[in-house]
Order: sequence, then structure tokens, then C-alpha cells
Amino acid sequence: MKKMIFATNNKHKLQEVSEMLNGIVQIKSLEESGLSGEIPETADTLEGNALQKAMWVYERSVDCKSNICGCFADDTGLEVEALDGRPGVYSARYAGEHCSFDDNINKMLGEMEGKTNRRACFRTVICLIEDGKPQFFEGRVDGEILTERHGKEGFGYDPIFMPDRFAVSFAEMPLEVKNRISHRGRAIAKLVEYLRMK
Ligand code: IMP
Repeated sequence: MKKMIFATNNKHKLQEVSEMLNGIVQIKSLEESGLSGEIPETADTLEGNALQKAMWVYERSVDCKSNICGCFADDTGLEVEALDGRPGVYSARYAGEHCSFDDNINKMLGEMEGKTNRRACFRTVICLIEDGKPQFFEGRVDGEILTERHGKEGFGYDPIFMPDRFAVSFAEMPLEVKNRISHRGRAIAKLVEYLRMK
């Protein structure tokens, strides 16, 4: 089976994405590919960051002789209406450089205190690079920011995000349900469809 590098070491993302690409391509993490170092993420759009991360990996690793046929990277942002779309592309560093998921949630709950408009969306952009050519796949899920944490599953902002048409947060859902409806799940579904058609 073809192998591709997914530009992440986040084990939650690896699990989500490996399950969805099961039987189509085998996913290798950065660590499994022997790649280390800080990947630059300095663009001011999700598309720009996904391209920057995917290109960084591609330039260092893609060698068709070893059956690695491409690589891809994702970038995700949580866009909150009442915060004029923030934190968006800066979602990982919302509470400051090297902050934890918990720090980000605390900051979000603080900024959203008393706000009646709690509409938000997660958006993921995936950049796939094969033969040096980038292609983009986007996924989005709309929902609301909760007023407190609910659930223990998942990662990041999952405990305070409730997707539309559900009465539970992402952190209260089994992974397969989250994968079906999430921003990343929808972007990966488009990637899967593209890879299947090839
Ligand atoms: P990244 O671009 O995928 O690194 O994500 C940026 C920020 O969004 C990080 O703080 C992540 O924790 C958060 N994030 C990304 N995907 C998800 C998700 O599926 N659920 C909750 N938070 C997420």
C-alpha cells in the first residue's frame, strides 16, 4: 500500500486520520518518518499554514523509491462570531506561546462570559503535495461555544464546542461520530474521495 506522511505528531489527529484512510494509504507521522524540528507556521491564513507545513515535509522526505508518495498537512482554526472570527488561524496560541489546551479553554470561557451570541465554527484546510504540486481540501462544522466544559474525549477545544444538531460536546462523542461530522473529518473525506478516484 502507498505510504504518505501526515505532518503531525498529535496522536489524536493521527488516530482520527489513520482510521479514515484505512485501506487507502498508510499514514506515517513525522516521528515515524524520522523528521524532527519545529515546522514553521507563520502564515496568516489556514491555507498558508497548511501549505507551509506540507512543503516543509515534502522538501525533506518525499522519496518515491521508498514508497512514500506524498505528504499532507492540516491547519485548523476555531472562528467565533462574537469575537469577530478570533482566534481563527491563531487558535493553538490563543492564550499565548506554549499554552496548553486548558489555558486556551479558560481564555475562551473568560472572553465569552455574558455573550449571548455563541455561534462558532471549526475550519480545517488540508494541503496535499504529490509531485511537488499542492492541492487543498476544506472542511467546516458549525456549532456553539458552551459556557463550561463537558466531556473528557478528544483534545483542544472539544469540551466547549457543541456541533449543530447535537446536544453534546465533541468531547462527549465517540471518535467515529466526531470523525463523521467534524471539520477535519469533512476535509479528510474530500481527500479520501480524491485519493480513491486516482
Ligand atoms: P491545528 O492547526 O490543527 O494545530 O489546530 C489549531 C488549534 O485548534 C489547536 O489548539 C487545536 O487544539 C485546536 N483544534 C484543532 N482541531 C481540533 C478539534 O478537532 N477539536 C478541538 N480543537 C481542535
